[in-house]
Amino acid sequence: MPHRNRTDDTVTIGHLDLRSRVDEALAVQAHAFGLSDDEIAVRRQIVLRHMTYPGARALGATTESGRLVGFVYGMPNDRLHWWSTVVEPYLRARGTEDWLDDSFVITELHVHPGYQNRGIGRTLITTITDTALQPRSILSAIDHESPARGLYRSLGYEDLARQVVFPSAPKPYAVMGAPLPLRRNT
Ligand SMILES: CC(C)(COP(=O)(O)OP(=O)(O)OC[C@H]1O[C@@H](n2cnc3c(N)ncnc32)[C@H](O)[C@@H]1OP(=O)(O)O)[C@@H](O)C(=O)NCCC(=O)NCCS
Repeated sequence: MPHRNRTDDTVTIGHLDLRSRVDEALAVQAHAFGLSDDEIAVRRQIVLRHMTYPGARALGATTESGRLVGFVYGMPNDRLHWWSTVVEPYLRARGTEDWLDDSFVITELHVHPGYQNRGIGRTLITTITDTALQPRSILSAIDHESPARGLYRSLGYEDLARQVVFPSAPKPYAVMGAPLPLRRNT
């Protein structure tokens, strides 16, 4: 689906070979989310490892000149994955732990600030989850009001746990889950 930004670039959503374009993707994430050089180096190893996991997939948003301006990636949840082991006790305490089974995890979603609020993030997450084999999706987002939280709620994601603390992350996260396919605006 083509998207026009304020400079009139047409942006196309499609398959992303995240392994070969990891540095471009992390540059987008650094602009969108804020990452230090040290954090980029750590994330780089994590992304490359994630892309070896069964069912891991990525989509990119690319301008006509081939510049990557947004990406999403995720994978079927596996209770043995680090993310799942961190959130599991919080979900168990809330009685929402069964969401860890048969769920597609959205691991990262970022759109370059110059291209936000054009529907690109919404298209990335709905497109990747539309082809998931699982009946639902889970993710974590920093636990404060943000465009990300607003977007996820509008797609049907609801809170499964709040104030989830990841080791090394300075801010607590909310874990959210939604049935698939994600809700469309009518
Ligand atoms: C979250 C993010 C990916 C959304 O990408 P985007 O392309 O700007 O999003 P879209 O244009 O597709 O969707 C915008 C939706 O987000 C929500 N949104 C956008 N700006 C918002 C704001 N200031 N306040 C609340 N909600 C907002 C709305 O629900 C909006 O829906 P609408 O189209 O009906 O108005 C982008 O803001 C981003 O990269 N943020 C920084 C990184 C980040 O937080 N990533 C998520 C980590 S969990």
